[in-house]
Amino acid sequence: TAGGPTLFGMPMKQVSLITLTFQNSALILIMHYSRIMTPSGDHRYFPSTAVFLNEVIKLAISLTFAIYEASRSLAPHTPATVLFEQMWTSVFAGDGWKLALPAALYTLENTLQYVALSNMDAVHFQILYQFKILTTAFFSVFMLGRALGSRKWVSLVVLTIGVAVVSLPSANSKDLAMIIHDTSDHYFPRSVHELGQLANGVAEVARELTKRGVSGLAGELTKRSATYQGIKEDQAAGPIMNYSIGLTAVLVAAAVSGLTGVYFEKVLKDTSNSVSVWTRNVQLSFYSLFPALIVGVIVMDGEEIAKHGFFDGYNWIVWTAIIFQAVGGVLTSSCINYADNIAKNFATSISIVISFLFSVWFFNFRVTFTFLIGTALVIASTYLYSGVERKRSRPPPISIVS
Ligand code: C5P
Repeated sequence: TAGGPTLFGMPMKQVSLITLTFQNSALILIMHYSRIMTPSGDHRYFPSTAVFLNEVIKLAISLTFAIYEASRSLAPHTPATVLFEQMWTSVFAGDGWKLALPAALYTLENTLQYVALSNMDAVHFQILYQFKILTTAFFSVFMLGRALGSRKWVSLVVLTIGVAVVSLPSANSKDLAMIIHDTSDHYFPRSVHELGQLANGVAEVARELTKRGVSGLAGELTKRSATYQGIKEDQAAGPIMNYSIGLTAVLVAAAVSGLTGVYFEKVLKDTSNSVSVWTRNVQLSFYSLFPALIVGVIVMDGEEIAKHGFFDGYNWIVWTAIIFQAVGGVLTSSCINYADNIAKNFATSISIVISFLFSVWFFNFRVTFTFLIGTALVIASTYLYSGVERKRSRPPPISIVS
């Protein structure tokens, strides 16, 4: 079709990419906040329960749209039973089983994100996770047979570097807000030695604040320093965070992201069996429930969940993060449907720049030179990628094999 589907006159491709950009910025900020806030109970929420609930919510959204879509294709006043029968057939009678593999892989990816974030700080995580820009391009070429010219490859490499540079922490942006930020719960020292240094550093800031009369914050930091000292003594036998586990987790997650996204795109755009994106999402979420529940909730966290309860540590911020994640899944699938996986990665890369700008405004971050360089690279790469590939000036090489 000439224009493709539209929403309020705007092509769905643009609508879904732009919406994903803003959704992703909000998600990064909310998830970050859900990690640094003080948990409501004694514990922070179990990641496996969040991964599971994300799929339950996404299933509900997708099923609603799939039923609506099916009802429109049937005659008016069709009985609900017929509608459900048709739903059931379209979801389970066809090639729905093809989604069992990406469902397991996405569950693995979502779980690995938490494994990585439990073993390394958020900054390293965000930089390393950008490796998925390249794995996605690699699988798009090899599984979808998509040809990427040299200009597009160059822009993908520039994009990866740009996002990595934006995420780089900068030494001169360490003001008081940053120190508090670093000493909050999402900062993970990699060794007992680093933890000791942290405990001393926090105690020093507390003393300085006491001198300046900021007693509330000073008291808070003194407590924190004592906590770190306590953990240090408990853990003196070995490292607390295992950086190599974190590194392996994030790199595997990035590879899985590329593979799974492209596999989903291949199934979705298979012209021999065209099934709507909503039905594909129902299938994907349905098959995700099993690994998320059995492997995540029962095998991995079962013992602790039995002690503390499924909803331990939940509050409205955690719920907001989960709902945003589910909506993000739906938006991701619509970007893959109306555009492709590579375009989807550009949208999320731009969103990283937006969340940084937002942090500058609301969390008192300083714009640094590296941030400006990184942003320039991201914008330049987007421009380079979406520009028209130059025509070949030479004819393609002639095959000499006869
Ligand atoms: O980082 P990446 O783009 O690979 O993230 C994909 C995310 O979107 C995963 O959390 C996955 O569960 C979700 N997703 C989804 N439905 C799809 C495709 C992806 O929920 N059809």
